[in-house]
Amino acid sequence: MHVDTKQLACGFSLPVFGAGTWMMGGGRTRDENNDDARDIEALNAALDAGLTHLDTAEMYAEGHAELLVGEVLKNRRRSDIILASKVMPANLRHDALLRSAENSLRRLGTDYLDLYFVHLPNPEIPMAETFSALQKLADQRVIRNVAVSNFSRERIEQAQQLIAHKIVGAQVHYNLIFREAAASGVLEYCQQNDMMLIAWRPVQKGILTVGGTELFDRVCRKYGKTPAQTAINWLIAQPNVVTLSTMRSKEHLAENLGALGWCMEQADVELLTRDFPGQRFVSDAVPLS
Ligand SMILES: NC(=O)c1ccc[n+]([C@@H]2O[C@H](COP(=O)([O-])OP(=O)(O)OC[C@H]3O[C@@H](n4cnc5c(N)ncnc54)[C@H](OP(=O)(O)O)[C@@H]3O)[C@@H](O)[C@H]2O)c1
Repeated sequence: MHVDTKQLACGFSLPVFGAGTWMMGGGRTRDENNDDARDIEALNAALDAGLTHLDTAEMYAEGHAELLVGEVLKNRRRSDIILASKVMPANLRHDALLRSAENSLRRLGTDYLDLYFVHLPNPEIPMAETFSALQKLADQRVIRNVAVSNFSRERIEQAQQLIAHKIVGAQVHYNLIFREAAASGVLEYCQQNDMMLIAWRPVQKGILTVGGTELFDRVCRKYGKTPAQTAINWLIAQPNVVTLSTMRSKEHLAENLGALGWCMEQADVELLTRDFPGQRFVSDAVPLS
């Protein structure tokens, strides 16, 4: 299927919906018993269905998620994929970051990344070191775009002062329940400064895939969509916002694709923004810092 893209004034663009790899091959540590073939199949199914944005990180399964993505890339034209990875907070010193990028490229079997994120800030390491290494990689076109993840608005502003390349995106925990990105001003900052906000955890690990509240059920019914589809559409209906889901099951992929190709009315975006019950204003997983 065709997946719409959002384009920034600076020229950077991303599809409104992409596939993540968190929990593929393990979590924070590698799971030796993981069914790798199933994860590879899930990623292939996502690409076959028309998704092109793949998101991974050196931290995921200690690099094993990147190896799985690398397997998938072997049978694809590299230029058809928008490939994103992330450097973890322990590796934000200049030389460590360069090594991390090299290792990610090796595991992924490619010579460039479309998007490279600082996964999380590390207050122990001066940001100038991190961003001078990113500057070098971007100058060499080894990374085509620089981005940050789990950064506060203030930290994004500081980071942008340290690098000549535009920081094109910010990944944050953002969904109908978790609103830190909006409450802290990161969403507004992205919208006002021509940056993409890439919302992670759009269905809150499945919690948003069941209705049960009068308002949410009413909006789902109005569009004839499931809760997961409505939760994802609420995100992508917002300016500068795109999202990523992990879909190791084909049923979840099929359902989530139903979030695309339509757009809820702005009045319903606003209604859900204001009145969705049980909102939380700090991430329970990775608060912005
Ligand atoms: N930058 C960061 O710090 C950060 C943090 C977290 C995530 N991320 C990125 O964002 C991606 C998405 O985040 P996430 O995995 O935490 O969030 P998510 O997509 O909201 O949650 C994924 C979980 O929900 C399930 N799911 C997906 N669609 C469903 C549906 N329609 N019905 C029922 N269950 C469904 C998945 O099951 P199955 O897998 O079994 O299908 C999986 O267990 C990650 O893969 C990762 O690439 C980035």
